[in-house]
Amino acid sequence: MKQKMMARLLRTSFALVFLGLFGVLGAATISCRNEEGKAVDWFTFYKLPKRQNKESGETGLEYLYLDSTTRSWRKSEQLMNTTKSVLGRTLQQLYEAYASKSNNTAYLIYNDGVPKSVNCSRKYGHTKGLLLWNRVQGFWLIHSIPQFPPVPEEGYDYPPTGRRNGQSGICITFKYNQYEAIDSQLLVCNPNVYSCSIPATFHQELIHMPQLCNRASSSEIPGRLLTTLQSAQGQKFLHFAKSDSFLDDIFAAWMAQRLKTHLLTETWQRKRQELPSNCSLPYHVYNIKAIKLSRHSYFSSYQDHAKWCTSQKGTKNRWTCIGDLNRSPHQAFRSGGFICTQNWHIYQAFQGLVLYYKSCNQTW
Ligand SMILES: *[C@@H]1O[C@H](CO)[C@@H](O)[C@H](O)[C@H]1NC(C)=O
Ligand SMILES: *[C@@H]1O[C@H](CO)[C@@H](O)[C@H](O)[C@H]1NC(C)=O
Ligand SMILES: *[C@@H]1O[C@H](CO)[C@@H](O)[C@H](O)[C@H]1NC(C)=O
Ligand SMILES: *[C@@H]1O[C@H](CO)[C@@H](O)[C@H](O)[C@H]1NC(C)=O
Repeated sequence: MKQKMMARLLRTSFALVFLGLFGVLGAATISCRNEEGKAVDWFTFYKLPKRQNKESGETGLEYLYLDSTTRSWRKSEQLMNTTKSVLGRTLQQLYEAYASKSNNTAYLIYNDGVPKSVNCSRKYGHTKGLLLWNRVQGFWLIHSIPQFPPVPEEGYDYPPTGRRNGQSGICITFKYNQYEAIDSQLLVCNPNVYSCSIPATFHQELIHMPQLCNRASSSEIPGRLLTTLQSAQGQKFLHFAKSDSFLDDIFAAWMAQRLKTHLLTETWQRKRQELPSNCSLPYHVYNIKAIKLSRHSYFSSYQDHAKWCTSQKGTKNRWTCIGDLNRSPHQAFRSGGFICTQNWHIYQAFQGLVLYYKSCNQTW
């Protein structure tokens, strides 16, 4: 009798533990995904430009890829326009959430260049990205691709506007307890949100994202904000966010000095609209001019719409940042941000791409 009761009790508690675990794990699966569709803590990608002078069969859809489980860049197996690409796999979770109309999942998609619109909004930040999360965890994708992604009802696609030039991005998986900090960073970035759903269950902790989603004018926006963030697996990041009232070059005036490192920056710099390499302040900023893919393969920064920087070789404090803004005088007037890490593999990967950068006082 006693044994029977014991057995029943055990069975019930097993069932409860199992259901409990399933409930948590089932809800916890929102994360960055690799090309196999497996959850990864973070990944970064570098979509390669389509070089005009080459008859190499480049489509402008190939990319380099690095994640928390690999150690160096890999050439993608898939083209960026397929649902099996790393962005396709990761965004699949957005389409599932959208279709289920689940009221415990939230998303926010923003881009200064809205899909299928000819207008680029200057009213909002020069910032592009996507967040998808529930009360357990989610991911933040920060990227440079104009007019990407399409609204969720249209499913996955990669726009022609992202094809010719190089593009960069990073996806990081965060536990829900990081979202309050992200909420404040996003406010400062002043994103142009073109698709979103933030159910009421989040409105207590997250103040700004529901307002951004409703395009309600917000409370006072700080000039700049810096926060530490930690990925679900414990990788540390620093996020710099500047508003349009911080009227300066984010790299020279803030990031290099704060990170205490000389930075090599790769951004979209059109001719006669570039801020030169800058050695005025204690920590310098140098413009990268050419990217090397291998000993025989390289491309010019004029073909690159990516936005990233990395510590100069040989200096201490080895940082790498990926984000929103270019080294152009006009970008002082725009909001946007960068996410930075001291992860060794990310540093090695980006450092390895630098072929040539301009020193200060160099006129050619
Ligand atoms: C992706 O782009 C390639 C090269 O342009 C094209 O052949 C292919 O049909 C595209 N695939 C999809 C799913 O759009
Ligand atoms: C949202 O969740 C609440 C509480 O679980 C439930 O009562 C409600 O029906 C849900 N709404 C929708 C639209 O699914
Ligand atoms: C683009 O901007 C112009 C001028 O501001 C406006 O008239 C037009 O409606 C906008 N088009 C779209 C698609 O938003
Ligand atoms: C270097 O950058 C700082 C901060 O933006 C700026 O004040 C300074 O004028 C710049 N120096 C040169 C030579 O452009």
